Amino acid sequence: MCLSEVKSGEKLCEAFWDCLNGRIFHGSGNYRIGVDLGTANVVVAVVDDEDNPVAGKIERAEVVRDGIVVDFVKARNIVENMIQELEHELRTDLQYGACAVPPGTAAGDFRATRHVVESAGIEVLDVFEEPVAAAKVLGMEDQAIVDIGGGTTGISIIKSGEIIYTADEPTGGVHFTLVIAGNYGLDFDRAEELKLDSSNHRKLLPVVKPVMEKVATIIHRHIKGYDVEKICLVGGTSSFEGLKDVIEQVTGIPVYVPKHCILVTPLGIALSCRKGGI
Ligand SMILES: Nc1ncnc2c1ncn2[C@@H]1O[C@H](COP(=O)(O)OP(=O)(O)OP(=O)(O)O)[C@@H](O)[C@H]1O
Ligand SMILES: [Mg+2]
Repeated sequence: MCLSEVKSGEKLCEAFWDCLNGRIFHGSGNYRIGVDLGTANVVVAVVDDEDNPVAGKIERAEVVRDGIVVDFVKARNIVENMIQELEHELRTDLQYGACAVPPGTAAGDFRATRHVVESAGIEVLDVFEEPVAAAKVLGMEDQAIVDIGGGTTGISIIKSGEIIYTADEPTGGVHFTLVIAGNYGLDFDRAEELKLDSSNHRKLLPVVKPVMEKVATIIHRHIKGYDVEKICLVGGTSSFEGLKDVIEQVTGIPVYVPKHCILVTPLGIALSCRKGGI
């Protein structure tokens, strides 16, 4: 991975983070959007003609499970509301966009994701595999991109700009929360709240370490046999302090975590979308 690409990827994520925190930048127009329907979060990113993030929305929602839309109407309503709010903020119609699915998603599930975005009024120009979108932000150099989201850990190995191996396993942030809930006798929402406050991470580390080791073992199993020099972590769960170290210990490979790892894939979807509706 080349350093200048990483730096510009970090800068783009920082700009998108500011957008999610209320900053609106009108940019150069000809907007295109990226919709990430995740197990834990729905995220919409808007970028302009010059690839600057200009606006965005994020909302917690359980409308998709492991790439499969489980509540179509709610998913559509969330995306539609987000787009209406973004159109109001940007004072324009948003027309074109893209979405993404986990690697290996079946054709029917792939179409359902697309249909959610289309029925929210967007012409979907592309549907990407999530790691392809993430690589747009991180750089298409040789690396393993590991997306640890809400429900799953997705592993993709990139060589010379091509995905040569990909897998998705059902362990993610939900499992961290369940272990915390079980350990402290809390309900899921309270345990999630505790987990999302980074100041608790050090205290929670011994509790979640077995889940981290499971994630690390999954990664190790999939990348064994490939010549991987660096692992890049994306997805919200990658923010958990200490996870990087556990993965480095188990795999013996250096791990890089972008500051706003939760935003890499959604922003990458918008940036990967074809320009100008062509
Ligand atoms: N600061 C944080 N520390 C620990 N976990 C976090 C943090 N921020 C978010 N998470 C966790 O990250 C997960 C959500 O990440 P993300 O938005 O990447 O998932 P998703 O795309 O919705 O899910 P998936 O990709 O599995 O379908 C949740 O489980 C959430 O609890
Ligand atoms: Mg995701």
